[in-house]
Amino acid sequence: MAAQLIYHLLLFALTILAMGTGVSSVTCSSADRAALLKFRSELSDPYIGVFSSWTGEDCCGHWYGVGCDQETGRVADITLRGESEDPILTRAGRSGLMTGRISPAVCRLDRLSSLVIADWKQISGPIPACITSLSALRILDLVGNRLSGPLPADIGKLSQLTVLNVADNQISGSIPKSLTNLGSLMHLNLGNNRISGRIPSDFSKLKMLSRALLGRNQITGVIPASISHMNRLADLDLADNQIYGSIPPAIGSMLVLSSLYLDSNRLSGAIPAMLLGSKGLGILNLSRNALDGHIPDVFTSRSYFTALDLSFNKLRGDVPKTLLTAAFVGHLDLSHNHLCGRIPEGSPFDHLEAASFANNDCLCGWPLQSCQ
Ligand SMILES: *[C@@H]1O[C@H](CO)[C@@H](O)[C@H](O)[C@H]1NC(C)=O
Repeated sequence: MAAQLIYHLLLFALTILAMGTGVSSVTCSSADRAALLKFRSELSDPYIGVFSSWTGEDCCGHWYGVGCDQETGRVADITLRGESEDPILTRAGRSGLMTGRISPAVCRLDRLSSLVIADWKQISGPIPACITSLSALRILDLVGNRLSGPLPADIGKLSQLTVLNVADNQISGSIPKSLTNLGSLMHLNLGNNRISGRIPSDFSKLKMLSRALLGRNQITGVIPASISHMNRLADLDLADNQIYGSIPPAIGSMLVLSSLYLDSNRLSGAIPAMLLGSKGLGILNLSRNALDGHIPDVFTSRSYFTALDLSFNKLRGDVPKTLLTAAFVGHLDLSHNHLCGRIPEGSPFDHLEAASFANNDCLCGWPLQSCQ
């Protein structure tokens, strides 16, 4: 009788304890736990101790950076960020640094929907090709490591993928043909790698894409004109590549494009009037190309540029007078061209410095020397 009472009390106490500490009723799948331990064994984190909590049976309970589906006990996300406000980093008083590689064992976590291994600076080796078998994957964020080798050729199999960020690594090879099959992709960031080859001509198949950041690579070829059909694309960064040819005029008619970085390429031909007359574009950087012709005089009261940089080209003619009608021009740089003539008087020219107009053929008037 007494024994039974004690038993019930104990059970009750255990239940309260379990509820109190938030331990879920599901424990993680043992296959997933084994895969996580293998993943962990190929990384080394000498300073932060992010893996110190990866002990015991229940990887769903308290393993740092691991999240599970509460019904199935399957691992659904891994989020390990080396730079964040997370207490584990602030306590360590430094940002993260890890060496090692991303084990192909992650591919055994076949219910994974989010894989974030970001800003550890020294994780090297390839992106495991088998990652394309993770059919539930929505977020793949490996920014800020030292990953090398190509993007997996069949990356287009990840039909749920919305975010693909491998920026700031040493990824080489070309953009896989299959990438344009990623029909759910919203954010693509391949910036600051060693990617070569062309932009796929069917890039505009990425209908959901809102940010395409491909800058600081070795991409060549032309800008596919069909990009102008991408109705959700708000940010396009192709800066610091080896892209040539002319700028497709229709880019100026894109519905939501707000920033366009084409600087430091080999673009030639004239600046399309449609581009400068665009109503939504707020940042346009065409600096350091071989653009020629006149600057189209097509600004309107709906022009609103926080930055307009046309410096280091071969532009001729005068400074467009319609800039006086623009709603706002913050930063303007027309330096290092072949412009000539009188700089118009009034806003935005009255708040600009001489550097904005330096190194042209024969410009005069404020903020340069007065005209003869
Ligand atoms: C435009 O690009 C050039 C060259 O890449 C860079 O130096 C400049 O700072 C950029 N301008 C703006 C306003 O960001």
